[in-house]
Amino acid sequence: MRWQPLPQPLPARLQLGAGARAVRGWLNCDIAGSQFNLDLATLPLPLPSGHFTDIVSQHVIEHLEYDPQVIDLFFDCFRLLQPGGRITLSCPDMEKLCRAYLEDGCAAIDHGLKRHWPRAALPGFPVQHRLNYYFHQAGQHKNLMDFGMLKWALEHAGFTEVRHVQEADLLAAYPEFPPRRDDFESLYVTARRPLAT
Ligand SMILES: C[S@@+](CC[C@H](N)C(=O)[O-])C[C@H]1O[C@@H](n2cnc3c(N)ncnc32)[C@H](O)[C@@H]1O
Repeated sequence: MRWQPLPQPLPARLQLGAGARAVRGWLNCDIAGSQFNLDLATLPLPLPSGHFTDIVSQHVIEHLEYDPQVIDLFFDCFRLLQPGGRITLSCPDMEKLCRAYLEDGCAAIDHGLKRHWPRAALPGFPVQHRLNYYFHQAGQHKNLMDFGMLKWALEHAGFTEVRHVQEADLLAAYPEFPPRRDDFESLYVTARRPLAT
């Protein structure tokens, strides 16, 4: 990745994997085409320790291997946050998606997934194939996670107050974020870097 200057003044809030959802007042990072490009699989991230009050990352960590990449990234996020700082994450929820499969073969979680497959409009096309989209997303997703997996990894990295929340909690804390309206498929988690570290 080419050297880039850090934006000055450096925002105190950091969005990782912003994609097309750059948010005003935040440092919006992605692997390419963002305000500050970085690869979340290449650590440590080229950002100053203890600078950030808040980190948000929505639907990004499933693009990394849980062990070691997600776990290592959480250690680095801990380093980047000020004591008392908060991290908020979302990703596809392994538990919700597996329940959806068991309940009705994922029939209820359509939401445009059919556009990915040429034969999806044919009568009898198996709706349960939707579960594969969440697991693999054409090779982009490395693995799914549930709350227990994120809680363990966040606590292992030193975070406390690991909470299972909803998208509304993220939007209440950060109203500048555009809504995804994706609680039906997503896991939202917050955690803090404790004050005494
Ligand atoms: C599903 S999109 C989510 C974008 C946005 N956060 C949202 O909620 O719409 C996943 C994003 O993660 C980014 N991403 C995937 N792997 C990455 C990596 N190794 N380093 C940085 N960004 C990555 C992709 O470029 C993409 O913008």
